[in-house]
Amino acid sequence: MYDNFQSDFLVIGSGIAGLNFALQVSKYGTVAIVTKKELMESNSNYAQGGIAAVLDKHDSFKSHIKDTLTTGCFINDKKAVEVLVKNAPKQIEHLINVGVGFSRENGKLCLTKEGGHSERRIAYVNDATGKEIERALLHQIRHHKNISTFESHIAFDLLIKNKKCIGALVFDTEKNEILQFSAKATIIATGGAGQVYSRNCNPKIATGDGVAMAASIGAKIRDMEFIQFHPTALALKNKPAFLISETVRGEDGILKNKNGKEFMDKYHKLHNLAPRDIVSRAIFAEMKKNQTNHVFLDIRHKGSAYIKKRFPYIFEKLWWFGIKMDKNMIPVAPAVHYICGGIHTDTNGETNIPGLYAFGEVAHTGVHGANRLASNSLLECLVFSDRAIRSVAKYIENELQLPTYTPHTHKVVKPTTVIFNQIKNKKRSIQKMMWNNVGIVREEKKMKKTLKKLLNLEIEIEKIFNKGISAPIIELRNINRVAILITKAALERKESIGCHYRLS
Ligand code: FAD
Ligand code: SIN
Repeated sequence: MYDNFQSDFLVIGSGIAGLNFALQVSKYGTVAIVTKKELMESNSNYAQGGIAAVLDKHDSFKSHIKDTLTTGCFINDKKAVEVLVKNAPKQIEHLINVGVGFSRENGKLCLTKEGGHSERRIAYVNDATGKEIERALLHQIRHHKNISTFESHIAFDLLIKNKKCIGALVFDTEKNEILQFSAKATIIATGGAGQVYSRNCNPKIATGDGVAMAASIGAKIRDMEFIQFHPTALALKNKPAFLISETVRGEDGILKNKNGKEFMDKYHKLHNLAPRDIVSRAIFAEMKKNQTNHVFLDIRHKGSAYIKKRFPYIFEKLWWFGIKMDKNMIPVAPAVHYICGGIHTDTNGETNIPGLYAFGEVAHTGVHGANRLASNSLLECLVFSDRAIRSVAKYIENELQLPTYTPHTHKVVKPTTVIFNQIKNKKRSIQKMMWNNVGIVREEKKMKKTLKKLLNLEIEIEKIFNKGISAPIIELRNINRVAILITKAALERKESIGCHYRLS
């Protein structure tokens, strides 16, 4: 028995981009939000550092624009960057109105600094900014009469009729059922793709589903080669690559090598606060030189009381891993963090496919160029989901009827242990290949070999998928498709620039 859920707007994803859009567009019609796991589970929920915006009288739009372009190596879309930066203060005000409790001192918003910024311009909520924004948005959404939410629902194919996107096929992972969600406008807000790589600091949901689904119906995809590594993820054997926020360096944390010596002065004039691609490669170089698998981040000099108050979340997490950040240096190494490319859109979230919109990390608006400036991502989610409201609402004015049910031929099959293990092993081998061969330093020969393997895997994965759908096979299919897009893009771009660094 297949159901068909109809709404004016279908939002795929419940991170900050999806939730912010859903909340505001709900005055124009009914909204269905489908999300893979629980509503809170998203990259957004783990965002630590904060949101960049010009909020201080000594700062200027010109300076924020310049920092964004410099970090992006000047291949950003300049118009999109202007839109991003000039709308930032308004978005902070909007969040305050929604109920976000930003950190303040004497009533004034606290501002911090991160790599590539020439001013203190990052508003934050201690070291767990994303969680507080998700909380505030969900508080408004949960009982909203125009918004229906569907947890444990994973979208796996977009529906096209008369060249327009009219919704998606969605797999309910609890009931093991395929459902059709039909809508006048479909919004992809599925976030990032960190899980394409073995060492990453993204949650498990970040498997690049939106890009994979959109690419398969002919949406334009851009800049997939620009995979951003975060320089400081925890590097402890058998422990996750837990992110240690760049704001730790923004508040004077220092990178040191295995002998306890500072090294960033050798690599960039901004030392510990150079753009992320530069710091990540510097750390890799130090690790190679000293034959270690990490360097250290040291903030002990700021004192216990300050550290516990400013970084309570990181302090507690590290404590569970056996590290006291007020007494020990933190072992860190780069990990995949963010994808600068994605589904190409204009500054109103429109893709090249009528009825299909994208914003947030899944989208490519061109604001990041070859490398993203720290704390510009939450900002991008807010600015472009907000701008899309008017264009999407206008689009549905001409769509007079809700799309009806379209039959499909997919089967649902619970994977046997053998199939499940096959899926797990294929996923691991893709993640390892991508880390080793399409990672921080790239070589033509290795990338070509990887692409060949990925294309062969695509055929094997498709066979498993066609036998029967399950959540692990949907994700594996998407991870592989995104890995192919990244590798092809990395092969096409011959020069080294920003996050894309080639030896040959
Ligand atoms: P997400 O928040 O990732 O949400 C995507 C949603 O889509 C999730 O709900 C997911 O479950 C759902 N989904 C995915 N696929 C499907 C599917 N097939 N079907 C249904 N649902 C699906 N940026 C900053 O600007 N400042 C920071 O301080 C900062 N800190 C960060 C810290 C960490 C540890 C990480 C990982 C990222 C950080 N970033 C930061 C980046 C930023 O958090 C993300 O880029 C941003 O939150 C992305 O938001 P989003 O709404 O686009 O996607
Ligand atoms: C961090 O807190 O270091 C993450 C900030 C970002 O990704 O913009």
